[in-house]
Amino acid sequence: MDVLSVTSEIYPLVKTGGLADVAGALPGALAAHDFAMRSLVPGYPQVMAALKKGRVVAGFDDLFGGPAQLIAARVQGLDLIVIDAPHLYDRAGGIYVDDTAKDWADNWARYAALSWVAAELAKGLVDGYRPRIIHAHDWQAAMAAAYVAFGGDTETRVVVTIHNIAFQGQYKADIFPMLRLPPAAFHMTGVEYYGGVGFLKGGLRCAHAITTVSPTYALEIQTPQFGMGLEGLLVERASDLHGILNGIDAEEWNPQTDTALAANYGAANTGKRGLNKLALAERFGLEINGGPLFGLVSRLTWQKGIDIVAANVDWLVSLGGRLAVLGSGDPMLEAAMAEAAGRYPGRVGFIRAYDEKLSHLMQGGSDVMLVPSRFEPCGLTQLYGLRYGAVPLVSRVGGLADTVIDANEAAVDAGVATGIQFIPVDGPALGEAIRRTITLYDRPDVWARMQRKGMKTDVSWEKSAGRYAALYNTLLGIE
Ligand code: ADP
Ligand code: GLC
Repeated sequence: MDVLSVTSEIYPLVKTGGLADVAGALPGALAAHDFAMRSLVPGYPQVMAALKKGRVVAGFDDLFGGPAQLIAARVQGLDLIVIDAPHLYDRAGGIYVDDTAKDWADNWARYAALSWVAAELAKGLVDGYRPRIIHAHDWQAAMAAAYVAFGGDTETRVVVTIHNIAFQGQYKADIFPMLRLPPAAFHMTGVEYYGGVGFLKGGLRCAHAITTVSPTYALEIQTPQFGMGLEGLLVERASDLHGILNGIDAEEWNPQTDTALAANYGAANTGKRGLNKLALAERFGLEINGGPLFGLVSRLTWQKGIDIVAANVDWLVSLGGRLAVLGSGDPMLEAAMAEAAGRYPGRVGFIRAYDEKLSHLMQGGSDVMLVPSRFEPCGLTQLYGLRYGAVPLVSRVGGLADTVIDANEAAVDAGVATGIQFIPVDGPALGEAIRRTITLYDRPDVWARMQRKGMKTDVSWEKSAGRYAALYNTLLGIE
């Protein structure tokens, strides 16, 4: 059965965050359930460069402002349909933002085009290929549901997955006439949102099913605190809303074979992590010996709670900890991290970069993986942490709540703890969690047990791929 995944990023070709990892891993995971997933992606420069052999399967004289072609290709194990539309995607800078970090002014056209093409494919645009299911990720693809609802093939079923409800794709009403939707779509039951156009809103309204990436986030987004204005709609659609946890690509992220590590290891010989810890300390200019090493790999944004980490640096260092931070983002948060590193040479290190390879070493060498997010739909870094024996210290929200078992006394006694959780998401609560973490670290038996328990936790795609497959089958009327 054919499923068309529609995504604005996909690992290993183009990645700004967890969405890419998920979009890159899901097709492989679904193959085991007899779903053939192709991915429709924009032809950004890095995607076009990766296309060696491709087949032109369709062409458009005018795809939202210029000519375009669809190219089918198999790249790095992924079946892709690439939209080669230079006027939309061929430009230097970020995929969503220009060099000054401002959203591209024509993002509405860039992602309306992505969504529109998906609906056309489901209508049979390409001979011999007619996906029955469109699986659209985030606001950039969500409009596929609207294109199907207002003029698509009536048998197509659309699943919209929310990876982060903070990003919604909201525009002024004046773009509506250019969207290729009938006037009726500019309505509460369509894409209209507070007098403008809401891409995610329209998608959520029109989708046959909605998923998000953890059960807890599925509940949270039905509340004003986390719903970012869409909570009412989601409450209405609660019976069509499913929380399905992300998995990780267990081959890409395997400490036993990972070539980015200084030393490979498994749950039976975690002692070898020491070599990775050494390598990591060197990379960050940290003292070689001296207490637990806290690692942070993240976009530096408000969502990720980076400010409350900055507020706890003195405390962490005073308790004997070291901190290694890899990330970039908000200039104020970057400055706070740089300042902390300057203040505590040898104890705090900051590398302002996006470095895939180093992110693996962080997992293989840190004692603790810090994830103090204010909200976190699923989160992947804590899952990598579990798999690599970097014990996650997380806030109890979203997918973090669902994937880490807090080391309270009962859990420690039962031997089921895999990490440390804290709530509320503020400086004092994180400070207390850091203290608790260091106390646990100072009990080597307890710590080792927690590490091993985490490493044995199933964080693969197996279970969740089965849930997506079951959802697709239900939508297709197959029991
Ligand atoms: P989000 O998608 O909200 O950023 P996730 O935890 O789902 O959060 O996914 C983040 C992904 O991006 C992970 O694969 C993580 O390793 C990676 N990542 C984040 N920051 C960096 C960085 N500075 N360098 C390398 N990888 C990073
Ligand atoms: C988003 C979320 C993150 C999630 C990722 C993949 O970027 O912020 O929590 O893990 O999508 O679903």
